Amino acid sequence: EVSLEIESTVPPSARFRECQDVAGLPGESESTTTIIVVGASGDLAKKKIFPALFALFYEECLPKHFTIFGFARSKMTDADLRCIIGRTLTCRIDKRQNCSEKMEQFLGRCFYHAGQYNSEDDFAELHEKLKKHEVGRISNRLFYLSTPPDIFIDAVKNASNSASSANGWTRVIVEKPFGRDSDSSAALTKGLKQYLKEEQIFRIDHYLGKELVENLSVLRFSNLIFEPLWSRQYIRNVQLIFSEDFGTEGRGGYFDNYGIIRDIMQNHLLQILALFAMEAPVSLDAEHIRNEKVKVLRSMKLLKLEDVVIGQYKRHTRGGMTYPGYTDDKTVPKNSLTPTFAAACLFIDNARWDGVPFLMKAGKALCNRRAEIRVQFRHVPGNLYKGSLGTDLDLATNELVIRVQPDEAIYLKINNKIPGLGMRLDRSTLNLHYAARYSKEIPDAYERLLLDAIEGERRLFIRSDELDAAWRLFTPLLKELEEKKIAPELYPYGGRGPVGAHYLAAKYNVRWG
Ligand code: NDP
Ligand code: BG6
Repeated sequence: EVSLEIESTVPPSARFRECQDVAGLPGESESTTTIIVVGASGDLAKKKIFPALFALFYEECLPKHFTIFGFARSKMTDADLRCIIGRTLTCRIDKRQNCSEKMEQFLGRCFYHAGQYNSEDDFAELHEKLKKHEVGRISNRLFYLSTPPDIFIDAVKNASNSASSANGWTRVIVEKPFGRDSDSSAALTKGLKQYLKEEQIFRIDHYLGKELVENLSVLRFSNLIFEPLWSRQYIRNVQLIFSEDFGTEGRGGYFDNYGIIRDIMQNHLLQILALFAMEAPVSLDAEHIRNEKVKVLRSMKLLKLEDVVIGQYKRHTRGGMTYPGYTDDKTVPKNSLTPTFAAACLFIDNARWDGVPFLMKAGKALCNRRAEIRVQFRHVPGNLYKGSLGTDLDLATNELVIRVQPDEAIYLKINNKIPGLGMRLDRSTLNLHYAARYSKEIPDAYERLLLDAIEGERRLFIRSDELDAAWRLFTPLLKELEEKKIAPELYPYGGRGPVGAHYLAAKYNVRWG
Protein backbone atom coordinates (compact mmCIF):
# COMPACT_ATOMS: atom_id res chain seq x y z
CA GLU A 1 0.00 0.00 0.00
CA VAL A 2 1.51 3.30 -0.99
CA SER A 3 0.36 6.59 0.38
CA LEU A 4 0.36 9.11 -2.39
CA GLU A 5 0.93 12.66 -1.34
CA ILE A 6 1.50 15.37 -3.82
CA GLU A 7 4.62 17.25 -2.82
CA SER A 8 4.57 20.96 -3.07
CA THR A 9 8.16 22.04 -3.45
CA VAL A 10 9.49 25.48 -2.81
CA PRO A 11 11.81 26.97 -5.39
CA PRO A 12 15.49 26.50 -4.48
CA SER A 13 15.90 30.23 -4.17
CA ALA A 14 13.50 30.21 -1.24
CA ARG A 15 16.20 29.31 1.22
CA PHE A 16 17.92 32.62 0.66
CA ARG A 17 15.03 34.58 2.05
CA GLU A 18 14.68 35.82 5.60
CA CYS A 19 12.35 33.94 7.89
CA GLN A 20 9.83 36.71 8.22
CA ASP A 21 9.07 36.30 4.54
CA VAL A 22 7.78 32.76 5.04
CA ALA A 23 4.38 34.15 5.86
CA GLY A 24 4.35 35.74 2.44
CA LEU A 25 4.68 32.47 0.51
CA PRO A 26 1.88 31.78 -1.94
CA GLY A 27 -0.81 29.73 -0.25
CA GLU A 28 0.59 30.37 3.21
CA SER A 29 -2.57 31.86 4.63
CA GLU A 30 -4.77 29.02 3.32
CA SER A 31 -2.57 26.23 4.65
CA THR A 32 -1.73 24.94 8.05
CA THR A 33 1.37 23.00 9.07
CA THR A 34 1.36 20.46 11.86
CA ILE A 35 4.56 19.01 13.23
CA ILE A 36 3.96 15.69 14.95
CA VAL A 37 6.81 14.62 17.20
CA VAL A 38 6.55 10.84 17.48
CA GLY A 39 8.38 9.79 20.65
CA ALA A 40 7.68 13.18 22.25
CA SER A 41 8.35 11.89 25.76
CA GLY A 42 11.97 11.10 24.86
CA ASP A 43 15.34 12.69 25.40
CA LEU A 44 15.90 14.07 21.90
CA ALA A 45 12.45 15.62 21.73
CA LYS A 46 12.99 17.49 24.99
CA LYS A 47 16.63 18.38 24.41
CA LYS A 48 16.56 19.36 20.75
CA ILE A 49 13.29 19.17 18.84
CA PHE A 50 10.96 21.29 20.96
CA PRO A 51 13.64 23.90 21.76
CA ALA A 52 14.46 24.14 18.03
CA LEU A 53 10.78 24.59 17.16
CA PHE A 54 10.48 27.29 19.79
CA ALA A 55 13.57 29.07 18.45
CA LEU A 56 12.00 29.02 14.96
CA PHE A 57 8.77 30.40 16.35
CA TYR A 58 10.67 33.05 18.28
CA GLU A 59 12.48 34.12 15.13
CA GLU A 60 9.17 34.15 13.24
CA CYS A 61 10.31 31.35 10.95
CA LEU A 62 7.38 28.99 11.38
CA PRO A 63 4.40 29.21 9.04
CA LYS A 64 1.58 31.48 10.18
CA HIS A 65 -0.79 28.60 10.98
CA PHE A 66 1.10 25.87 12.75
CA THR A 67 0.39 23.37 15.48
CA ILE A 68 2.71 20.95 17.23
CA PHE A 69 1.55 17.57 18.44
CA GLY A 70 3.51 15.22 20.66
CA PHE A 71 2.72 11.52 20.24
CA ALA A 72 4.07 8.71 22.46
CA ARG A 73 2.84 5.89 24.68
CA SER A 74 3.36 7.74 27.99
CA LYS A 75 0.10 8.92 29.48
CA MET A 76 0.24 12.71 29.52
CA THR A 77 -2.11 15.63 29.06
CA ASP A 78 -1.43 18.70 26.93
CA ALA A 79 -0.62 20.51 30.16
CA ASP A 80 1.92 17.83 31.18
CA LEU A 81 3.67 18.11 27.82
CA ARG A 82 3.75 21.91 28.05
CA CYS A 83 5.18 21.68 31.53
CA ILE A 84 7.93 19.27 30.45
CA ILE A 85 8.98 21.13 27.32
CA GLY A 86 8.56 24.52 28.97
CA ARG A 87 11.52 23.65 31.19
CA THR A 88 13.92 23.38 28.27
CA LEU A 89 12.89 26.45 26.28
CA THR A 90 15.27 29.36 26.31
CA CYS A 91 15.19 32.70 24.56
CA ARG A 92 18.03 33.23 22.16
CA ILE A 93 18.31 36.94 22.59
CA ASP A 94 17.80 37.54 26.27
CA LYS A 95 17.40 41.26 25.87
CA ARG A 96 14.10 40.83 24.05
CA GLN A 97 11.27 41.92 26.30
CA ASN A 98 8.59 39.57 25.11
CA CYS A 99 10.29 36.25 25.69
CA SER A 100 7.95 34.80 28.31
CA GLU A 101 4.97 36.00 26.30
CA LYS A 102 6.39 34.19 23.24
CA MET A 103 6.89 31.04 25.28
CA GLU A 104 3.28 31.10 26.41
CA GLN A 105 2.12 31.60 22.83
CA PHE A 106 4.30 28.73 21.66
CA LEU A 107 3.24 26.34 24.41
CA GLY A 108 -0.38 27.21 23.67
CA ARG A 109 0.13 25.68 20.23
CA CYS A 110 1.60 22.41 21.56
CA PHE A 111 -0.70 19.42 22.17
CA TYR A 112 -0.26 15.80 23.07
CA HIS A 113 -1.88 12.54 22.05
CA ALA A 114 -1.02 9.31 23.85
CA GLY A 115 -1.04 6.19 21.72
CA GLN A 116 0.71 3.00 20.69
CA TYR A 117 3.04 3.19 17.71
CA ASN A 118 1.57 -0.01 16.26
CA SER A 119 -2.08 0.99 16.59
CA GLU A 120 -3.92 2.27 13.52
CA ASP A 121 -6.78 3.31 15.78
CA ASP A 122 -4.54 5.52 17.88
CA PHE A 123 -3.23 7.25 14.78
CA ALA A 124 -6.79 7.59 13.47
CA GLU A 125 -7.70 9.36 16.72
CA LEU A 126 -4.69 11.60 16.28
CA HIS A 127 -5.90 12.37 12.76
CA GLU A 128 -9.30 13.47 14.11
CA LYS A 129 -7.62 15.80 16.60
CA LEU A 130 -5.37 17.24 13.92
CA LYS A 131 -8.36 17.94 11.67
CA LYS A 132 -9.93 20.08 14.38
CA HIS A 133 -6.89 22.32 14.38
CA GLU A 134 -6.68 22.50 10.63
CA VAL A 135 -10.18 24.01 10.34
CA GLY A 136 -10.71 23.39 6.67
CA ARG A 137 -7.37 24.74 5.48
CA ILE A 138 -4.94 22.79 3.30
CA SER A 139 -3.18 20.61 5.81
CA ASN A 140 0.53 19.92 5.68
CA ARG A 141 1.89 17.37 8.11
CA LEU A 142 5.46 16.76 9.16
CA PHE A 143 6.06 13.66 11.27
CA TYR A 144 9.33 13.60 13.20
CA LEU A 145 10.26 10.03 14.16
CA SER A 146 12.16 10.47 17.39
CA THR A 147 11.95 6.93 18.72
CA PRO A 148 14.24 3.92 18.71
CA PRO A 149 14.52 2.64 15.12
CA ASP A 150 12.58 -0.60 15.59
CA ILE A 151 9.44 1.54 15.83
CA PHE A 152 9.99 3.52 12.61
CA ILE A 153 8.11 1.18 10.26
CA ASP A 154 5.07 0.75 12.51
CA ALA A 155 4.83 4.47 13.05
CA VAL A 156 5.22 5.27 9.35
CA LYS A 157 2.67 2.63 8.36
CA ASN A 158 0.05 3.97 10.74
CA ALA A 159 0.83 7.61 10.16
CA SER A 160 0.59 7.02 6.44
CA ASN A 161 -2.57 4.89 6.50
CA SER A 162 -4.49 6.75 9.18
CA ALA A 163 -3.03 10.18 9.77
CA SER A 164 -1.60 11.52 6.53
CA SER A 165 -2.80 14.74 5.01
CA ALA A 166 -5.77 14.51 2.68
CA ASN A 167 -5.06 17.65 0.67
CA GLY A 168 -1.53 18.89 1.43
CA TRP A 169 1.85 17.29 1.86
CA THR A 170 2.95 14.62 4.34
CA ARG A 171 6.64 14.39 5.13
CA VAL A 172 8.55 12.25 7.59
CA ILE A 173 11.82 13.11 9.29
CA VAL A 174 13.67 9.94 10.25
CA GLU A 175 16.31 10.04 12.97
CA LYS A 176 19.43 7.96 12.83
CA PRO A 177 20.47 5.18 13.11
CA PHE A 178 19.43 4.13 9.60
CA GLY A 179 20.28 0.49 10.15
CA ARG A 180 23.45 -1.20 11.42
CA ASP A 181 24.92 -2.24 8.07
CA SER A 182 24.12 -2.38 4.36
CA ASP A 183 21.46 -5.10 4.70
CA SER A 184 19.56 -3.64 7.65
CA SER A 185 19.71 -0.17 6.11
CA ALA A 186 18.33 -1.51 2.80
CA ALA A 187 15.57 -3.31 4.71
CA LEU A 188 14.66 -0.10 6.56
CA THR A 189 14.57 1.87 3.30
CA LYS A 190 12.43 -0.83 1.69
CA GLY A 191 10.08 -0.78 4.68
CA LEU A 192 9.73 3.01 4.60
CA LYS A 193 9.17 3.01 0.85
CA GLN A 194 6.19 0.71 1.23
CA TYR A 195 4.38 3.70 2.69
CA LEU A 196 6.28 6.75 1.50
CA LYS A 197 7.91 8.05 -1.63
CA GLU A 198 11.59 8.93 -1.38
CA GLU A 199 10.67 12.65 -1.64
CA GLN A 200 8.65 12.34 1.54
CA ILE A 201 11.52 10.88 3.55
CA PHE A 202 13.87 13.31 5.27
CA ARG A 203 16.76 11.32 6.80
CA ILE A 204 18.38 13.63 9.26
CA ASP A 205 22.09 13.91 9.96
CA HIS A 206 22.24 16.88 12.25
CA TYR A 207 25.88 17.58 11.39
CA LEU A 208 24.69 18.75 7.98
CA GLY A 209 22.73 21.47 9.76
CA LYS A 210 25.78 22.86 11.55
CA GLU A 211 26.76 26.32 10.42
CA LEU A 212 30.34 25.53 9.43
CA VAL A 213 29.43 22.35 7.65
CA GLU A 214 26.92 24.30 5.60
CA ASN A 215 29.57 26.88 4.96
CA LEU A 216 31.94 24.33 3.45
CA SER A 217 30.61 24.69 -0.04
CA VAL A 218 30.46 28.48 0.27
CA LEU A 219 34.10 28.47 1.27
CA ARG A 220 35.06 26.21 -1.61
CA PHE A 221 32.89 27.44 -4.41
CA SER A 222 32.48 31.16 -3.78
CA ASN A 223 36.14 32.02 -3.14
CA LEU A 224 38.72 31.91 -5.84
CA ILE A 225 41.62 31.08 -3.58
CA PHE A 226 40.67 27.68 -2.14
CA GLU A 227 39.35 25.62 -5.02
CA PRO A 228 42.57 25.67 -7.10
CA LEU A 229 44.41 24.22 -4.09
CA TRP A 230 41.72 21.63 -3.33
CA SER A 231 43.38 18.51 -4.67
CA ARG A 232 46.20 16.00 -4.28
CA GLN A 233 48.51 18.53 -5.91
CA TYR A 234 48.53 20.81 -2.88
CA ILE A 235 46.86 18.92 -0.05
CA ARG A 236 48.93 16.39 1.90
CA ASN A 237 46.18 15.04 4.11
CA VAL A 238 42.77 15.90 5.51
CA GLN A 239 41.71 15.16 9.08
CA LEU A 240 38.16 14.92 10.34
CA ILE A 241 38.12 14.95 14.10
CA PHE A 242 35.27 14.48 16.55
CA SER A 243 35.81 14.26 20.27
CA GLU A 244 33.63 14.52 23.34
CA ASP A 245 34.79 15.01 26.90
CA PHE A 246 32.03 12.82 28.31
CA GLY A 247 31.18 9.15 27.98
CA THR A 248 28.04 7.34 26.90
CA GLU A 249 26.36 7.94 30.27
CA GLY A 250 22.63 7.44 29.97
CA ARG A 251 22.81 6.12 26.40
CA GLY A 252 24.89 3.00 27.01
CA GLY A 253 22.05 0.66 26.00
CA TYR A 254 21.73 2.27 22.56
CA PHE A 255 25.44 2.81 22.12
CA ASP A 256 26.51 -0.75 22.83
CA ASN A 257 24.52 -1.98 19.87
CA TYR A 258 26.15 0.56 17.55
CA GLY A 259 29.59 1.78 18.66
CA ILE A 260 31.43 4.89 17.61
CA ILE A 261 31.98 3.87 13.96
CA ARG A 262 28.24 3.67 13.32
CA ASP A 263 27.37 6.50 15.72
CA ILE A 264 29.72 9.16 14.34
CA MET A 265 31.99 8.03 11.49
CA GLN A 266 29.64 6.38 9.03
CA ASN A 267 27.32 9.38 9.15
CA HIS A 268 28.53 12.69 10.63
CA LEU A 269 32.20 12.51 9.60
CA LEU A 270 31.56 10.80 6.28
CA GLN A 271 28.98 13.44 5.35
CA ILE A 272 31.51 16.17 6.07
CA LEU A 273 34.09 14.31 4.00
CA ALA A 274 31.67 14.05 1.08
CA LEU A 275 30.97 17.79 1.13
CA PHE A 276 34.64 18.52 1.47
CA ALA A 277 35.76 16.31 -1.38
CA MET A 278 32.90 16.36 -3.91
CA GLU A 279 33.17 18.02 -7.30
CA ALA A 280 31.30 21.28 -7.88
CA PRO A 281 27.60 20.51 -8.30
CA VAL A 282 25.74 21.69 -11.39
CA SER A 283 23.72 24.03 -9.17
CA LEU A 284 22.66 24.40 -5.56
CA ASP A 285 19.65 22.22 -6.23
CA ALA A 286 19.36 19.41 -3.65
CA GLU A 287 19.58 16.67 -6.28
CA HIS A 288 22.67 18.16 -7.88
CA ILE A 289 24.45 18.39 -4.55
CA ARG A 290 23.46 14.91 -3.51
CA ASN A 291 24.50 13.51 -6.90
CA GLU A 292 28.01 14.82 -6.29
CA LYS A 293 28.12 13.45 -2.77
CA VAL A 294 27.09 10.01 -3.97
CA LYS A 295 29.74 10.11 -6.69
CA VAL A 296 32.56 10.83 -4.29
CA LEU A 297 31.34 8.22 -1.80
CA ARG A 298 31.24 5.64 -4.56
CA SER A 299 34.80 6.53 -5.53
CA MET A 300 36.09 5.64 -2.09
CA LYS A 301 38.02 2.48 -1.31
CA LEU A 302 36.45 0.09 1.18
CA LEU A 303 37.94 0.49 4.63
CA LYS A 304 40.52 -2.12 5.56
CA LEU A 305 41.09 -3.47 9.04
CA GLU A 306 44.76 -2.49 8.96
CA ASP A 307 43.71 1.12 8.43
CA VAL A 308 41.58 1.24 11.56
CA VAL A 309 42.32 1.51 15.27
CA ILE A 310 39.62 1.05 17.88
CA GLY A 311 39.56 1.92 21.56
CA GLN A 312 37.33 1.85 24.60
CA TYR A 313 37.58 4.14 27.62
CA LYS A 314 38.34 2.71 31.01
CA ARG A 315 37.84 3.98 34.53
CA HIS A 316 40.27 6.69 35.56
CA THR A 317 40.98 8.59 38.74
CA ARG A 318 42.29 12.12 38.50
CA GLY A 319 42.48 14.90 41.09
CA GLY A 320 40.60 12.77 43.60
CA MET A 321 37.72 12.17 41.13
CA THR A 322 36.94 8.78 39.65
CA TYR A 323 35.51 8.73 36.14
CA PRO A 324 33.63 5.55 35.15
CA GLY A 325 34.82 3.22 32.43
CA TYR A 326 32.51 2.33 29.54
CA THR A 327 31.71 -1.12 30.96
CA ASP A 328 30.94 0.36 34.40
CA ASP A 329 27.61 1.46 32.89
CA LYS A 330 24.97 -1.01 34.10
CA THR A 331 23.33 -1.10 30.66
CA VAL A 332 26.59 -2.23 29.03
CA PRO A 333 27.75 -5.90 29.19
CA LYS A 334 30.90 -6.28 31.27
CA ASN A 335 32.76 -7.96 28.41
CA SER A 336 31.63 -5.51 25.74
CA LEU A 337 34.08 -4.99 22.87
CA THR A 338 32.13 -2.02 21.48
CA PRO A 339 34.50 0.75 20.44
CA THR A 340 34.01 4.18 22.00
CA PHE A 341 36.94 5.47 19.94
CA ALA A 342 38.04 4.82 16.40
CA ALA A 343 40.61 6.23 14.02
CA ALA A 344 40.59 5.33 10.36
CA CYS A 345 42.35 6.21 7.16
CA LEU A 346 40.25 6.45 4.00
CA PHE A 347 41.15 7.03 0.37
CA ILE A 348 39.25 8.41 -2.57
CA ASP A 349 40.10 6.71 -5.82
CA ASN A 350 39.64 9.58 -8.23
CA ALA A 351 41.80 12.01 -10.15
CA ARG A 352 41.46 14.78 -7.59
CA TRP A 353 42.24 12.82 -4.44
CA ASP A 354 44.29 9.79 -5.46
CA GLY A 355 46.74 8.94 -2.65
CA VAL A 356 45.61 11.65 -0.21
CA PRO A 357 44.91 10.14 3.23
CA PHE A 358 41.62 11.26 4.78
CA LEU A 359 42.06 10.51 8.46
CA MET A 360 39.05 10.28 10.71
CA LYS A 361 39.14 10.19 14.47
CA ALA A 362 36.09 9.98 16.72
CA GLY A 363 35.96 9.31 20.42
CA LYS A 364 33.99 9.63 23.61
CA ALA A 365 35.42 10.43 27.06
CA LEU A 366 38.46 12.21 25.69
CA CYS A 367 40.21 15.31 27.03
CA ASN A 368 38.17 17.86 25.08
CA ARG A 369 35.04 18.44 23.03
CA ARG A 370 35.64 19.46 19.46
CA ALA A 371 34.68 18.81 15.87
CA GLU A 372 37.18 19.98 13.29
CA ILE A 373 38.31 19.62 9.72
CA ARG A 374 42.05 20.07 9.36
CA VAL A 375 43.65 20.38 5.96
CA GLN A 376 47.42 20.04 5.87
CA PHE A 377 49.06 21.39 2.74
CA ARG A 378 52.23 20.16 1.08
CA HIS A 379 55.68 21.62 1.66
CA VAL A 380 56.73 24.65 -0.33
CA PRO A 381 59.05 23.30 -3.02
CA GLY A 382 62.57 24.75 -2.79
CA ASN A 383 61.56 26.89 0.17
CA LEU A 384 63.84 29.94 0.21
CA TYR A 385 63.28 30.39 3.92
CA LYS A 386 64.37 26.97 5.02
CA GLY A 387 66.61 27.60 8.01
CA SER A 388 64.93 30.87 8.92
CA LEU A 389 62.52 28.96 11.08
CA GLY A 390 63.22 27.03 14.26
CA THR A 391 64.14 23.40 13.63
CA ASP A 392 60.64 22.16 14.23
CA LEU A 393 59.18 24.98 12.18
CA ASP A 394 61.33 23.98 9.24
CA LEU A 395 58.67 21.40 8.62
CA ALA A 396 55.76 23.79 9.11
CA THR A 397 53.35 23.70 6.23
CA ASN A 398 50.16 25.65 5.81
CA GLU A 399 47.17 24.26 7.60
CA LEU A 400 43.56 25.27 7.19
CA VAL A 401 41.35 24.51 10.15
CA ILE A 402 37.58 24.61 10.05
CA ARG A 403 36.40 24.41 13.63
CA VAL A 404 32.82 23.20 13.50
CA GLN A 405 32.44 23.40 17.27
CA PRO A 406 32.80 24.73 19.88
CA ASP A 407 33.65 28.37 19.25
CA GLU A 408 33.25 28.21 15.48
CA ALA A 409 36.20 29.46 13.46
CA ILE A 410 38.07 29.12 10.20
CA TYR A 411 41.77 29.78 10.44
CA LEU A 412 44.78 29.37 8.25
CA LYS A 413 48.21 28.73 9.68
CA ILE A 414 50.90 30.56 7.73
CA ASN A 415 54.60 31.27 8.10
CA ASN A 416 55.24 34.93 8.80
CA LYS A 417 58.17 37.23 9.38
CA ILE A 418 58.58 38.28 12.98
CA PRO A 419 58.65 42.10 12.86
CA GLY A 420 62.11 43.53 13.37
CA LEU A 421 65.39 44.12 11.64
CA GLY A 422 66.35 40.48 11.51
CA MET A 423 64.84 37.77 9.36
CA ARG A 424 63.14 35.31 11.59
CA LEU A 425 59.90 33.57 10.83
CA ASP A 426 57.22 32.17 13.01
CA ARG A 427 53.90 30.43 12.59
CA SER A 428 50.89 32.75 12.72
CA THR A 429 47.23 32.43 11.93
CA LEU A 430 44.78 34.30 9.78
CA ASN A 431 41.74 33.84 11.91
CA LEU A 432 38.05 34.14 11.14
CA HIS A 433 36.65 33.76 14.61
CA TYR A 434 32.88 33.73 14.38
CA ALA A 435 32.14 35.18 17.82
CA ALA A 436 34.34 38.19 17.02
CA ARG A 437 33.11 38.66 13.45
CA TYR A 438 29.38 38.01 13.74
CA SER A 439 27.17 39.26 16.51
CA LYS A 440 24.23 37.02 15.65
CA GLU A 441 24.04 33.81 17.60
CA ILE A 442 24.47 30.68 15.52
CA PRO A 443 21.25 28.66 15.27
CA ASP A 444 21.20 25.08 16.42
CA ALA A 445 21.49 22.50 13.63
CA TYR A 446 18.01 21.16 14.38
CA GLU A 447 16.48 24.58 13.72
CA ARG A 448 17.88 24.75 10.22
CA LEU A 449 16.91 21.17 9.43
CA LEU A 450 13.36 21.46 10.76
CA LEU A 451 12.85 24.62 8.78
CA ASP A 452 14.21 22.97 5.64
CA ALA A 453 11.87 20.00 6.08
CA ILE A 454 8.92 22.36 6.49
CA GLU A 455 9.97 24.18 3.34
CA GLY A 456 10.56 20.93 1.41
CA GLU A 457 14.25 21.68 0.98
CA ARG A 458 16.13 18.34 0.83
CA ARG A 459 19.69 19.52 0.29
CA LEU A 460 20.77 18.75 3.86
CA PHE A 461 19.04 15.38 4.14
CA ILE A 462 20.43 12.00 3.14
CA ARG A 463 19.11 10.35 0.00
CA SER A 464 18.81 6.55 -0.01
CA ASP A 465 21.61 6.02 -2.55
CA GLU A 466 23.94 8.15 -0.40
CA LEU A 467 23.08 5.98 2.54
CA ASP A 468 23.81 2.81 0.55
CA ALA A 469 27.15 4.21 -0.56
CA ALA A 470 28.04 5.13 3.04
CA TRP A 471 27.20 1.68 4.40
CA ARG A 472 29.06 -0.01 1.54
CA LEU A 473 32.30 1.54 2.81
CA PHE A 474 31.93 0.49 6.43
CA THR A 475 29.97 -2.77 6.39
CA PRO A 476 32.82 -5.23 5.58
CA LEU A 477 35.02 -3.63 8.24
CA LEU A 478 32.27 -3.72 10.88
CA LYS A 479 31.61 -7.38 10.09
CA GLU A 480 35.29 -8.24 10.36
CA LEU A 481 35.68 -6.39 13.67
CA GLU A 482 32.72 -8.26 15.07
CA GLU A 483 33.50 -11.70 13.63
CA LYS A 484 37.12 -11.60 14.72
CA LYS A 485 36.11 -10.10 18.08
CA ILE A 486 38.85 -7.50 17.83
CA ALA A 487 39.54 -6.12 21.30
CA PRO A 488 39.64 -2.33 21.53
CA GLU A 489 42.71 -0.65 23.00
CA LEU A 490 41.77 0.70 26.42
CA TYR A 491 42.37 4.37 27.14
CA PRO A 492 41.74 6.33 30.32
CA TYR A 493 38.60 8.47 30.60
CA GLY A 494 39.56 12.05 29.86
CA GLY A 495 42.77 11.13 28.03
CA ARG A 496 43.92 11.53 24.44
CA GLY A 497 42.71 8.17 23.23
CA PRO A 498 44.66 5.07 22.19
CA VAL A 499 48.25 5.51 21.16
CA GLY A 500 47.50 3.25 18.17
CA ALA A 501 45.84 6.26 16.49
CA HIS A 502 49.24 7.95 16.34
CA TYR A 503 50.89 4.92 14.75
CA LEU A 504 48.11 4.77 12.19
CA ALA A 505 48.66 8.41 11.26
CA ALA A 506 52.44 7.95 11.26
CA LYS A 507 52.06 5.11 8.76
CA TYR A 508 50.86 7.75 6.30
CA ASN A 509 53.34 10.39 7.44
CA VAL A 510 50.69 12.36 9.23
CA ARG A 511 50.68 13.99 12.63
CA TRP A 512 47.23 14.61 14.14
CA GLY A 513 46.41 18.28 14.56
P1 NDP B 1 14.51 7.55 23.71
O1 NDP B 1 15.11 6.25 24.09
O2 NDP B 1 14.38 8.60 24.76
O3 NDP B 1 13.11 7.22 23.05
C1 NDP B 1 12.15 8.18 22.66
C2 NDP B 1 10.77 7.70 23.05
O4 NDP B 1 10.47 6.51 22.35
C3 NDP B 1 10.66 7.34 24.53
O5 NDP B 1 10.33 8.46 25.30
C4 NDP B 1 9.58 6.31 24.52
O6 NDP B 1 8.32 6.95 24.59
C5 NDP B 1 9.70 5.65 23.18
N1 NDP B 1 10.42 4.37 23.34
C6 NDP B 1 11.62 4.16 23.86
N2 NDP B 1 11.95 2.86 23.84
C7 NDP B 1 10.91 2.24 23.30
C8 NDP B 1 10.63 0.89 23.00
N3 NDP B 1 11.51 -0.06 23.23
N4 NDP B 1 9.44 0.60 22.46
C9 NDP B 1 8.55 1.56 22.19
N5 NDP B 1 8.77 2.88 22.46
C10 NDP B 1 9.92 3.20 22.99
O7 NDP B 1 15.29 8.08 22.46
P2 NDP B 1 15.92 9.50 22.19
O8 NDP B 1 14.89 10.55 22.42
O9 NDP B 1 17.21 9.60 22.89
O10 NDP B 1 16.26 9.41 20.63
C11 NDP B 1 15.26 9.30 19.64
C12 NDP B 1 15.90 8.94 18.32
O11 NDP B 1 16.86 9.91 17.97
C13 NDP B 1 16.65 7.62 18.35
O12 NDP B 1 16.55 7.01 17.09
C14 NDP B 1 18.09 8.04 18.61
O13 NDP B 1 19.01 7.10 18.12
C15 NDP B 1 18.16 9.34 17.84
N6 NDP B 1 19.15 10.29 18.34
C16 NDP B 1 19.15 10.67 19.65
C17 NDP B 1 20.08 11.59 20.11
C18 NDP B 1 20.07 12.05 21.55
O14 NDP B 1 20.92 12.89 21.88
N7 NDP B 1 19.18 11.58 22.40
C19 NDP B 1 21.09 12.18 19.20
C20 NDP B 1 20.95 11.74 17.83
C21 NDP B 1 20.01 10.83 17.44
P3 NDP B 1 7.02 6.26 25.21
O15 NDP B 1 7.46 5.20 26.15
O16 NDP B 1 6.32 7.40 25.89
O17 NDP B 1 6.30 5.75 24.03
C1 BG6 C 1 24.72 12.01 17.87
C2 BG6 C 1 25.38 10.83 18.50
O1 BG6 C 1 24.37 11.73 16.56
O2 BG6 C 1 25.63 13.11 17.90
C3 BG6 C 1 25.84 11.13 19.91
O3 BG6 C 1 24.45 9.76 18.55
C4 BG6 C 1 26.71 12.38 19.94
O4 BG6 C 1 26.57 10.05 20.44
C5 BG6 C 1 26.02 13.51 19.21
O5 BG6 C 1 26.93 12.73 21.28
C6 BG6 C 1 26.95 14.70 19.06
O6 BG6 C 1 26.24 15.78 18.55
P1 BG6 C 1 26.70 17.26 18.85
O7 BG6 C 1 25.84 18.09 18.00
O8 BG6 C 1 26.49 17.48 20.32
O9 BG6 C 1 28.15 17.33 18.51
